[in-house]
Parts: sequence; structure tokens; C-alpha cells
Amino acid sequence: MTKRILTGVKPTDSQLHLWNLFWAIKPFLKMSEENPDAEIFMFLANMHALTALHDWNAIRNNSINIVKLYAACGADLNRFYIYNPADIPAHAQLNRVFSCLTIMWTMERMHSYKEALAKWNAWTISVWTFNYPILMAADILLYDADYVPVGKDQKQHVEYARDFAEKFNREYGETFKIPEPLIDSRVATIIWSDWRKMSKSYNNYIWLLDDEKSVLKRVKQIPTSTQTVEEPKNPDECNVYNLCKLFLTPEEDEALRARYTKGWLSFKEAKDYLFEKIMETLTPIQKKYAEISDEEIIKLLRKWKESVSPIAEKKVEDVYKKVGFIL
Ligand code: TRP
Repeated sequence: MTKRILTGVKPTDSQLHLWNLFWAIKPFLKMSEENPDAEIFMFLANMHALTALHDWNAIRNNSINIVKLYAACGADLNRFYIYNPADIPAHAQLNRVFSCLTIMWTMERMHSYKEALAKWNAWTISVWTFNYPILMAADILLYDADYVPVGKDQKQHVEYARDFAEKFNREYGETFKIPEPLIDSRVATIIWSDWRKMSKSYNNYIWLLDDEKSVLKRVKQIPTSTQTVEEPKNPDECNVYNLCKLFLTPEEDEALRARYTKGWLSFKEAKDYLFEKIMETLTPIQKKYAEISDEEIIKLLRKWKESVSPIAEKKVEDVYKKVGFIL
């Protein structure tokens, strides 16, 4: 049986940065390559973005841009089913049933909600921040997904989807496939010069579309030790090396480590090398990005919608019959 892998990308930003590339996009593309027979469902979670972003123009532009960036990074959008759930009423319809069958307590104990409460306060959190996992469960269960690759922060949401599916199947008869979360267990870090994870909120990111000048500025900002040029250095203690490492082949890595330990490697030289490596990664992405038009993305979303919406509609019909809505 063909396996179905499903994931959603939330367009809360118009850009993606290096961290997204290394820890979300690349692993996802690798998995799709390793499973050439699998069906890959990758949807825009723009209905989820509205919980945090109340700007129609931003949601619209971000949505198009994020898909474009995925394509620029190598997502094969002629193979991947890329669609917008806002075009498919079944997402909202299933969510309606799930909301009725889920008790408050289940949502109250979700980490994401508790974190939002701790960070903001109840006056500013939308109802959808509270029941976010319910819509997410509908996104997943509508399509009988086998695997759902998500970050650690989303694991509990997929577990809720599993529990819900099991409960529904028990009470109403076999309806949903039980999805398996795929959690990347590697420690996901791109520690930037401040030793913090690359993130927009820390202002330490490199966007995939950044020009040479901006990248160079970031690279120059990386603090280094006061060791002199001639001193041998421990690469593992150097942030320039730690960042370089992400881009190097094993041979290049070995050569660079040797340069560090031998001495006579200036931090300026190491930074120039890092800059060169970052641009080597970004340039082809930027080139491809520039070749894709907004219209192409919109056309793709429409095309794939035609393929996936019958699957979703069938599922909703089944559920609506089972719960007694359809007479
Ligand atoms: N919640 C995910 C995020 O914050 C996006 C998402 C929405 C998703 N629905 C999903 C991911 C279903 C996997 C499966 O990025």
C-alpha cells in the first residue's frame, strides 16, 4: 500500500531562514526522496495562521511566498500535493464535529495553549489558539495520513489526533487511520553568534533571500576569541567553525579542522570561508525563487485542490452520516 506522508506549513512569516532550511525543509525533502513511492501531502496552514496574524495582505502574501520558497529549495511541486485547506470546506466541516466531541480539559492541558497563556494572557489569546489542535487533527485525519513529520512542539497535537481517531473509531465504527508522528530526534540547532537558536525574535537570522551585504554583516558580527593568528585553535570552541560545519562535506570539514589545530588560521579567513559557504547555498535558491511567479503558485494550489478535495469530501460525508447529520 502506498504510504501517505502529510505535513502543514504555517505562513506566519513571509520568509524562511537558514534554520528552517536545515531543520525543516532539508529533512522533509530527504524523507520524500527516501520514500519515492509515498504520496506527499504538504498543505498551507493559513487557516492556522489567522490565530496570530490579523492582516489579510500578509497572510495572502506569506502563503504564496512560503510555497515559492519551498519550491526554490527543491520541493517537487509536481509530485507533492500542495493545497490550501481554505479552498476545501471539509477541513472546517470536520473540525466542527471534532469540536463537539472534544472536552475542554483535553485542550486545556495542551502545552502550546499553556505556553501562550504564560506568555500573553487570556485577554489576547484567540479561541483558535485554544482549540488549534482540533483543526490540526481534522487536517490530518481527513486524508488518512500514515505519517506526520512534525517538530517536538507539535507532538502532543498529533497524539491528540491519534487519541481522537481511536475514540471515534470505537464509538462510531472504523473511520480514521491512526497517524504516526515522525519526530526528528536530532538536536536542532543553528546557534548563532549569541549562542541562541536562529530566530526572528532574537534578530539573529539569515533569510534565505538575504543579499550578500546582509549575510556579510551577520557573519562579521560573530564574536570570536582573542587568540592570535598563529595560535592553534580548538574548532569546537569556535562559533565560526560550528556554523561552517553545516555546509561542509566530510573532507572539507576535516581540512578545516586541521587548519584550526595547526594554527595560522585567522578568524577573518574563517569568516570569509563561512560567508562563501552560506552564499553557495543561498544563491541557487534565490535564483530559482526569482524564476517562479505568484500565478504559478496559485495555479498549482488550484490544481492540487482538485485532486485532494474529493478525498476530503468523502471522509466528511462518511463522518456526517455516522454522527447522524445527514438524513
Ligand atoms: N501546527 C503546525 C505548525 O505550527 C502546522 C500544521 C497545521 C500542521 N496542521 C498540521 C502540521 C497538520 C502537521 C499536520 O507549524
